Order: sequence, then structure tokens, then C-alpha cells
Amino acid sequence: MDRLRLDDKHIVITGASSGFGSHFAGVLADAGARVVLGARRTDKIQDRVNGIKTSGGEALGVKLDVRSAESIQEFLDAAENAYGPIDVVINNAGVEAGAKTYMMIDEEDWDFVMETNLKSAWLMAKFYTERVVKNAQPGGNIINISSITDTRTIKGQFPYAVSKGALTRMTEILALEAARYRIRVNALAPGYILTDVSRLLLESEQAPEFMQGIPMRRFGEFSDLDGPILLLASDASSYMTGSVVVVDGGHICASL
Ligand SMILES: NC(=O)c1ccc[n+]([C@@H]2O[C@H](COP(=O)([O-])OP(=O)(O)OC[C@H]3O[C@@H](n4cnc5c(N)ncnc54)[C@H](OP(=O)(O)O)[C@@H]3O)[C@@H](O)[C@H]2O)c1
Repeated sequence: MDRLRLDDKHIVITGASSGFGSHFAGVLADAGARVVLGARRTDKIQDRVNGIKTSGGEALGVKLDVRSAESIQEFLDAAENAYGPIDVVINNAGVEAGAKTYMMIDEEDWDFVMETNLKSAWLMAKFYTERVVKNAQPGGNIINISSITDTRTIKGQFPYAVSKGALTRMTEILALEAARYRIRVNALAPGYILTDVSRLLLESEQAPEFMQGIPMRRFGEFSDLDGPILLLASDASSYMTGSVVVVDGGHICASL
């Protein structure tokens, strides 16, 4: 379907050195987008950029630490210098603090997770909006990668689940406030898919039992996110804002 195509769209992705971000970069480039990949591990970013270019896509890698406002601005500057005004921002960078409860984390854990997963999304939204206004762009698009832990969690996901609950809420509030700039803001809330963020749980002894709580009786695959990310990044979702697209095999519908 043509409306899912991304020809000439300029899309920036945070946390694109591994996991979802790296995967999204390939999917979006395959659909015609020019993608800018940001993360701290520049060697991994460059490998991914090279792979996308070899497949005929257009991509650029830029060093990014989302905990630094200065680094976010430099990332956006580099993206605009390369490909012009940005059509879509994907706030994907995320970390967890290990299997810890509120009694086990310290202030450093709290700041590490909240600054990476939550504060960065606000800073990015603010700086991006300033640029959309300055460039007199016809509109914009922000996609926040939240998680089903925003509503359904287990013990030991503090403060990760707190950050995702707030990120989903932030998505709704940003959608309300950013509409005047014709910027759409939506969230993608995946269930459990094996990456470095989920490895501790999905490779634990409890994993098979945990999987029984998912109606579809399997964890997700990267490819399960392809349709939803294309929908949110493309004009096919032009009347969607403030939405949370859940991709979890029915996990949040289950009671256990
Ligand atoms: N896997 C799941 O089951 C699952 C489910 C729901 C939601 N999510 C969310 O999906 C997103 C991607 O995570 P993932 O599962 O793909 O794990 P991942 O492979 O560990 O990816 C996390 C990415 O975030 C980047 N990152 C971390 N701190 C950063 C910082 N300060 N500045 C810039 N980039 C930073 C990492 O890159 P560098 O270390 O190179 O900076 C990495 O590329 C996260 O927001 C996560 O919460 C994951």
C-alpha cells in the first residue's frame, strides 16, 4: 500500500545501535526513508549504516547520548545538515536497572533509567518542535517506544516500569499540546522480545512459566513490530495522535 511507503521521509532514531532501533532503521530504509541512527556505540551504528547502504538505502550514523541536552541538539543538527528538516523522530533509546525493586535501587539507578527513558523524550520533543517551527515545516511526527510495562508489570521492574508508565502518559499530553504545531505524537508499546533490555527475564528459569501468561504463548519477534512502526511513521496514520499501539500477543489482556 502506497500510504505505508516512506519515500524521501527523513527519520531519526535514538538507540539505534542494537535491538529494536537497529531493526527499525533497516525496515524504514527499506520502505524508502533516509534514516539517521544515534547511540553511544558508534562502531555498532556504523556497521548498521554500512549494511543499510549495501542494501541500497540511505543512512547516516551520529554519536548520541540522550542523557545530554547538548548531544541531542548536536544529533539533530547533524541530521538536518545531512537530510534537511526531520519528518519523524523515534524516541527508542532505553535502559533498565536490573531486576530490582524500589527498595533495591539507589538514586543513581533512578536517574540513569528516568533520564534515559523519560527525560530524553521530553527534551527531544521540545528541541524537535522548536525546529519544526523554525523551519516552517508543514508538520511533524514523534513516536515514543514505550512498553506494556506502562500498564502491566511484575515485581523487580522498578524504575523501568515507572518510566514507561510516564512515557505513555507523556505521549498523550504531548499529543494534546503539539497538535497546534501539526506534530503527531504516538507510542508503540511492545510486549516482551529478546534484546539486551529483556535478556535478564527472558533467559531466566522463570521464562517458560512467564510465557504461559501470554495468550499467544510466545514472546515477540522483531518482525512483529514492522507493520506497527511503518503505520506510525507513515502517512497511513495521519489521523492518529495520542495513540498507544500495543504489540504483545495479548499479554495485557491476560489476568496473570
Ligand atoms: N526488548 C523488549 O522486550 C522491549 C519491550 C518493550 C519496550 N522495549 C523498549 O525498546 C527500546 C529499545 O530497547 P531494546 O529492547 O531494543 O534494547 P537494546 O538492544 O538494549 O537497545 C537499547 C538502545 O538504547 C541505546 N541507549 C541506551 N542509553 C543511551 C543513551 N544514553 N544515549 C543514546 N542511546 C542510548 C543503546 O545504545 P548505546 O548503548 O550504544 O548508546 C541501544 O541502542 C527501549 O526503550 C526499551 O525499553 C523493549
